[in-house]
Amino acid sequence: MSRTIIVSNRLPTKVQRTGQGLTFQPSEGGLATGLGSIYRADDNVWVGWPGMFVDDPNEQQQVTERLQADSMAPVFLTESEIHDYYEGFSNGTLWPTFHYFSEYALYEQAHWEAYVAANKKFCRAVLELAGPDDTIWVHDYQLLLLPEMIRRERPKATIGFFLHIPFPSYELVRVLPWGAKLLEGMLGADLIGFHTFGYQRHFISAVSHMLGYPNQSGQIDTPSRPVLIDAFPMGIDYQHYAETANSEAVAQHVLAYREALREGRIILSIDRLDYTKGIAQRLRAFEGLLERYPEWRGQVSLLMVVVPSRDQVAQYQSLKEEIDELVGRLNAQYSTISWTPIHYFYRSFPFEELVALYRLADIALVTPVRDGMNLVAKEYIACRNDERGVLILSERAGAAQELSDALLINPTDTNHLVDALNEALLMPEEEQATRMSHLRALVKQYDVFAWTKLFMDRLAYSKIKQHIYTTD
Ligand code: G6P
Repeated sequence: MSRTIIVSNRLPTKVQRTGQGLTFQPSEGGLATGLGSIYRADDNVWVGWPGMFVDDPNEQQQVTERLQADSMAPVFLTESEIHDYYEGFSNGTLWPTFHYFSEYALYEQAHWEAYVAANKKFCRAVLELAGPDDTIWVHDYQLLLLPEMIRRERPKATIGFFLHIPFPSYELVRVLPWGAKLLEGMLGADLIGFHTFGYQRHFISAVSHMLGYPNQSGQIDTPSRPVLIDAFPMGIDYQHYAETANSEAVAQHVLAYREALREGRIILSIDRLDYTKGIAQRLRAFEGLLERYPEWRGQVSLLMVVVPSRDQVAQYQSLKEEIDELVGRLNAQYSTISWTPIHYFYRSFPFEELVALYRLADIALVTPVRDGMNLVAKEYIACRNDERGVLILSERAGAAQELSDALLINPTDTNHLVDALNEALLMPEEEQATRMSHLRALVKQYDVFAWTKLFMDRLAYSKIKQHIYTTD
């Protein structure tokens, strides 16, 4: 029987070491939470890193057995791979470059070499598992070289690739000393998917400028094979969020939170700690609201969840300090005995509590300066069975291409953001309901299952097209 082998740097389960030994928790981030619902179907298996350095052979065995029972196959990274491939090239070079923060990007030959070696390691893990009829679906910027590495060993394999972050303008790609090699790596796939048409266009333009391969109607003709390029905006497991939002457990949490927060209105902000998410800008906008519209003081609080992420990378450490300082200063300046302007949590929340926060929030404030898609926006919508609440969304998140009934803002324009906050707080319930019902219909229809089906159907079509091409 043929199955799908999903490959990504991070598995949907992460291992952590506690006083009680090794524990297994759900991973953070859009890729892991988004795909978490689909990989268990059929006989699929997910290959990836369990998120922690494990070198003791007995512990590796324990982790492997535990993950295998849940259809995962771990790839263990050494300490130097974590440093040079994961924190170095993936998150110190590619992540900032692809999000238009090229001033943060490092260009280290040693990091590049570690990236090549780590992609080879993932390649070996895939080849060990994949049968000739299996479909291999590679995900994200940590594994850009992998499609071509697999292709070299298995010329006939069916390989899909999906990028979960933006693909930037050619002008940024050309700055990377290894840009052409990265493009060749991706072109090992039969189908390359992006969240938006804009990212797709940037990729085609980079390939045409840097490799000179011709393209027509979403197809690039490499010297050996045609490769299809398309946009597939990722969805979420809508039903899972909507059902959980209706559950008794969530109702209990909402009640408890409501009691603690009394009558106050809630603006919700949830992200991984990342400079692309615009967290500091958001805090400044909240300050602007309290300054420009003082009538909201004492009436509205910002509930801000920041999930720890990549804390060994320098920019993430300094961002954490900046946020801590801003929150401290704003709370010290505006708090009263009965009102706390910002409730700040530096941790992740269990699923049902997270859904309760979505249910509680009058406003979801999703204002990244760059974001491939942003699934938090879609999760908020899926939880609003009551058709209340306002989504304020950055026009620079991929999700803005679809969610046009949100209040769309430019995250750098603090004044605009302050006005959007005021407008959202004043929005009549009928308008909230109209916007929310449109948004919900969209998120429901294009859920993660529809997304997977579209991608897989197109991948199967790419093979048919190639067959015609080679027998022409
Ligand atoms: C983004 C990336 C994912 C990544 C996630 C969490 O969503 O697209 O590939 O897994 O962030 O980041 P981390 O570095 O913790 O895996």
